[in-house]
Amino acid sequence: MLGINVMVFGFVAYSAMAPGALTKTTLLPGITSHGHYQIEMRCDVCHTEGSGIRQDACLDCHADELRLAKDTHPASKFNDPTNADLLSVLDAQNCLTCHREHVQEQTLPMGLTMPADYCFHCHQETLETRPSHQDFAFDSCATAGCHNYHDNRALYENFLLKHADEEDFLSTMAGLIRTPVVESNTTQLNGGDADAPEDWMSATAEDVATLDDWASTTHAAAGVNCSGCHASEVESNSSDVALKTDSEPELQWTRSVGLDACGKCHEQQRATFFEGHHGMRLAIDLPAMTPAQARLPMHVDAAHRQLDCNACHAGHRFDTQYASVDACLVCHNDEHSRAYQQTSHYESWVKEVAGETASGSGVSCATCHMPRLEDDDGNVWVQHNQNANLRPNEKMIREVCMNCHGLAFSIDALADRDAINQCFAASPSVHIESVDLAKARFEEKQRKKEQRLKQK
Ligand code: HEC
Ligand code: HEC
Ligand code: HEC
Ligand code: HEC
Ligand code: HEC
Ligand code: HEC
Ligand code: HEC
Ligand code: HEC
Ligand code: HEC
Ligand code: HEC
Repeated sequence: MLGINVMVFGFVAYSAMAPGALTKTTLLPGITSHGHYQIEMRCDVCHTEGSGIRQDACLDCHADELRLAKDTHPASKFNDPTNADLLSVLDAQNCLTCHREHVQEQTLPMGLTMPADYCFHCHQETLETRPSHQDFAFDSCATAGCHNYHDNRALYENFLLKHADEEDFLSTMAGLIRTPVVESNTTQLNGGDADAPEDWMSATAEDVATLDDWASTTHAAAGVNCSGCHASEVESNSSDVALKTDSEPELQWTRSVGLDACGKCHEQQRATFFEGHHGMRLAIDLPAMTPAQARLPMHVDAAHRQLDCNACHAGHRFDTQYASVDACLVCHNDEHSRAYQQTSHYESWVKEVAGETASGSGVSCATCHMPRLEDDDGNVWVQHNQNANLRPNEKMIREVCMNCHGLAFSIDALADRDAINQCFAASPSVHIESVDLAKARFEEKQRKKEQRLKQK
């Protein structure tokens, strides 16, 4: 533990060039997990100033996610006296029982640092009383595509039954459609309305193209002028109040437009971007992530691109089709990402882009990793946390796959590692029995019920 106290805790603004950077990583006792290494330099988000882990450190960042996942084993479940004695076997109220850190030798996927056979400690009865479960290996409950510890939204028995008889390919195959910007918008702008300084718009051919791009796309249609992104009001002192009321506010112009400017109008996108791998460094004031810092394979020539809004939304068209595939492939270069363009999903995307098929019927990278969601008011928005449904991957079933595929087919495909590596280029080659077991159990129950009725 030596060093923990001496370490620079509580630092506020932080840059990778800070003199302490090297010493801090050398104080790490081991390699940090896949989920956290991008933020490992900020020891203080997890550790106390003394030693040990800050209370609530984990929940500060993960509480919402576990709540949305309808966590099957929340700490509160074990306050119930009937369940409380299980804690003597395993302290399920403490995240660190199962998720330690910097211990690569013991770390399984999803940051699990507990041998995978522990479900047995509390669920022995299930294994013993259900004939179907008697031959299952103790470590298979949460590793074989059947159950998860936290998120069972697509795997619980009634859900399996409800969707038991679906076809692999549903009769209508399409996802949500984004709410279009109202065409009759009265504040709609065109080229002549642009309010940027004159020399920004005419000096070069590029400037003219910028103006065209803006004028022909969504921001102009939605009434967002150049100043909406490029200018802020100059703060005036109170003595200028009189002056201010009868003149336009003075604008300060800047050519660089960063995440904060976009976030003024797109708060939901900014907030969700901060929660995932892409934005997790910016979220805690570390410099933006670049492919050079990745563990996953990336294109070498993209090494120094910064991950902010502009990484996918190149100005001034802010073309969402470009953002959905081409932008991703500027950086990502792993087997799965490279395989995508050989799949039938990609073919469906090409058709949608060409206008041959309906909007929402194509499958892009974003369809799976940044799905469109509907809020309580019926507005469709785009999830910008590309980790929200990534692991365990059954999170993708309800939000994504089931727009087009049956439940059993989706479970099988997502349990098939080879299929994932090939980006789903072929039908799944594994079969998970969950749906079959749920059906068999239901039929067995029905039969017993009928027998009882007959006997009466
Ligand atoms: C994402 C959260 C997180 C971050 C960031 C983090 N750690 Fe940790 N660290 C942990 C957890 C969790 C443990 C395990 C604690 C346990 O087992 O009780 C741990 C354990 C340790 C231990 C061993 C403690 C022991 O009792 O064995 C050291 C030393 C340590 N961290 C140093 C650092 C340093 C130095 C940094 C910054 C460069 C850092 N950590 C950043 C979460 C984090
Ligand atoms: C500053 C915010 C922050 C803190 C503090 C933090 N995490 Fe995380 N954690 C993240 C982000 C961001 C990710 C990556 C995105 C994701 O997987 O959701 C992540 C990923 C994870 C993962 C998934 C890893 C994977 O491979 O899919 C687990 C498990 C996890 N964290 C558990 C914990 C635990 C336990 C603690 C407390 C010791 C903790 N986190 C503290 C932000 C945080
Ligand atoms: C008894 C073991 C155990 C405890 C305690 C535990 N987890 Fe997990 N956690 C897991 C397992 C196993 C996974 C892998 C996915 C699964 O099976 O749900 C996981 C996955 C995760 C993930 C990845 C996303 C997801 O939805 O699965 C996060 C985040 C996470 N845990 C956070 C936490 C936090 C925060 C706590 C403390 C409140 C905690 N875990 C307590 C076993 C545990
Ligand atoms: C510390 C004890 C404990 C451990 C360890 C544990 N569970 Fe549980 N689990 C419970 C309790 C308590 C319930 C609630 C039982 C009930 O309500 O009837 C439960 C419920 C469940 C349910 C049913 C949820 C529902 O309501 O539909 C599933 C599925 C489940 N656990 C799977 C697992 C898996 C998989 C593991 C290992 C990754 C695991 N459990 C580890 C205590 C535990
Ligand atoms: C929706 C936000 C947005 C709007 C509206 C917008 N821009 Fe931009 N503009 C950007 C972004 C993002 C950049 C790139 C900034 C960077 O790379 O730091 C940029 C860059 C520029 C640059 C600098 C190019 C360079 O290579 O340095 C000029 C000039 C420019 N915009 C002109 C305009 C003009 C003229 C308008 C109105 C017709 C306009 N912009 C409207 C977001 C916007
Ligand atoms: C002054 C407010 C404002 C600012 C600043 C702003 N936007 Fe927008 N943006 C809008 C409005 C309004 C729409 C249309 C409604 C919608 O799609 O949400 C829009 C639409 C979009 C779209 C969808 C485009 C389409 O074709 O469907 C993207 C992508 C986008 N903005 C990205 C950005 C980025 C990136 C930035 C920062 C460089 C930014 N916006 C800055 C107001 C703004
Ligand atoms: C990893 C790439 C990526 C990054 C980074 C990114 N976006 Fe997006 N964004 C997309 C994709 C892809 C879509 C369109 C998906 C679709 O059409 O279903 C989109 C759509 C949007 C939309 C229109 C849809 C909606 O949600 O209303 C807005 C606005 C937007 N992004 C703003 C932002 C802002 C602001 C940031 C920075 C905080 C940002 N984006 C960062 C990929 C990205
Ligand atoms: C500017 C480069 C860049 C762009 C553009 C980009 N990414 Fe990423 N992406 C990264 C980096 C860097 C990471 C972190 C990888 C690591 O830490 O190993 C990442 C992480 C991810 C992860 C999480 C991986 C994990 O294991 O947790 C997913 C999923 C992902 N990106 C998908 C996409 C999709 C889909 C798009 C397009 C909509 C996209 N990315 C656009 C650079 C980029
Ligand atoms: C049909 C849905 C689907 C499509 C389309 C798709 N992916 Fe994935 N992607 C997944 C699944 C499922 C995983 C595996 C999650 C897991 O279990 O770890 C994954 C994993 C990833 C990872 C993490 C790899 C790792 O080893 O951690 C990245 C990065 C990624 N995808 C990027 C992309 C990019 C870029 C595209 C488009 C070129 C794309 N994906 C297209 C479903 C999809
Ligand atoms: C918007 C609709 C849509 C979504 C969402 C979707 N798919 Fe597909 N999927 C298709 C279409 C269309 C085909 C091609 C059917 C054909 O070849 O006739 C397909 C084919 C497949 C195939 C078989 C490939 C082959 O060539 O045999 C697999 C496996 C697959 N999808 C898995 C998934 C998984 C897993 C998800 C969720 C992560 C998913 N799909 C999400 C539309 C979708």
